[in-house]
Amino acid sequence: MAEIKNILVLGTGLMGNGIGQVALMAGYNVTLVDINDELVNKGYAKIDAGLKKLETKGALGEGVTADQLLDRCKRSIDFASAVKDADIVIEAVVERMDVKKQVCKTTMDNGPSHVIFASNTSTMSITEIGKDCGAPDRVSGMHFFNPVPLMKCIEVIKGESTSEETFNTTKLVAESLPCLRGKRYIAPVMKDRPGFIVNRLNAPVQIYLNYVFDQAAEKGIPWEQIDADAAGLMPMGPCELADYVGIDTMYHGSKYYEETLSPDFKPGKVLTEMFEGNKLGRKSPQGFYDWSAGRPTVDKSTKAGLFSVENSMAIMLNEGCRLLEEKVVTGFKIIDDANMAGMNTPGPFGGGKKQYEKWAGLLNELADKTGMEYFRPCELMKSGGFVTMRK
Ligand code: 3HC
Repeated sequence: MAEIKNILVLGTGLMGNGIGQVALMAGYNVTLVDINDELVNKGYAKIDAGLKKLETKGALGEGVTADQLLDRCKRSIDFASAVKDADIVIEAVVERMDVKKQVCKTTMDNGPSHVIFASNTSTMSITEIGKDCGAPDRVSGMHFFNPVPLMKCIEVIKGESTSEETFNTTKLVAESLPCLRGKRYIAPVMKDRPGFIVNRLNAPVQIYLNYVFDQAAEKGIPWEQIDADAAGLMPMGPCELADYVGIDTMYHGSKYYEETLSPDFKPGKVLTEMFEGNKLGRKSPQGFYDWSAGRPTVDKSTKAGLFSVENSMAIMLNEGCRLLEEKVVTGFKIIDDANMAGMNTPGPFGGGKKQYEKWAGLLNELADKTGMEYFRPCELMKSGGFVTMRK
């Protein structure tokens, strides 16, 4: 197994700079690469600020300074040349298959013969990304959650052609990246299905949110009231979370699920208008809320009564059962644990063990009300058969 010393982070946006920061903290040499100097420097500045903050708190380790770590951080806008020294490329570029495939091929055409390409795609097939690059055995998935330094989960994905060696090395690198909130949680994903574990579990909640957002827009209900519906039950309400993750990421993800899972994933009116109007959330910095002065203060004093966390849980239980049916994971505990580590929210199986009959009823009501057949409970959920499956 090749020793990993040099990590190239491709794409220095929200995810990329978080990945770069934890890679430096783990002791790797890091090269940040993006398409222009402005983007690279912006990503670097975020890492600089994060490391300096940790230095002031004495959290970088005995005698370690931010500047020492930053000395091991190079910047480049010439990917083909920078990849020559890379042992692993972690890509966090835009969520488009053609772009992912292209950068994967550039990695294999120009990198050393042992280089691994690990994609941080939120949704897409690792097998497809690596298919035409010339070395699909060295392509894997390393899927992070926002914000990378604070969220414990990293999903490590085995594509159909990923070699055992590549998968194991990717897992080792993922395990070595520190998390500011405790021990990293690595979720191995043994079957390359859309959205992997955590995003797939949450994906059909977006179908429900399309309905909620479009109803709210039609009735003139303020977004704060939708977030107030989730207060105390989720760390961020659905509107704030969508802004935080990025409206473009949600939009592209929904389009991918529309093609691969069901037409019901088609992005709703509100999501589409925001995407087309470049209201992408925190990064733009306007979305449901204005982020120009940092995280918005959301007034959650009045509830809309439109968004139900229980409906979301029922939807997630159904999708979790589909993950079990498709053998993406070996048991349901890993689904709940990964959701907690990736979203800071309990997964659906803890509550679902007792509530599945009631929740199956809620799903049928939701399908009738919205016309979305994807909500109908699958066999494993309806029967409660998952209760007796291996945890
Ligand atoms: N470097 C150093 N310190 C950092 C840092 C960094 N990069 N980032 C944050 N910190 C520090 C902060 O400065 C703060 O320090 P302080 O306590 O001394 O002030 C501390 O860490 C905690 O930060 P916050 O105050 O911002 O943390 P909160 O307690 O408010 O929690 C949150 C923020 C973790 C984002 C929480 O709201 C949450 O869990 N939200 C849900 C997020 C979520 O669901 N993420 C997953 C989205 S899905 C996804 O990403 C998948 C993808 O495919 C789309």
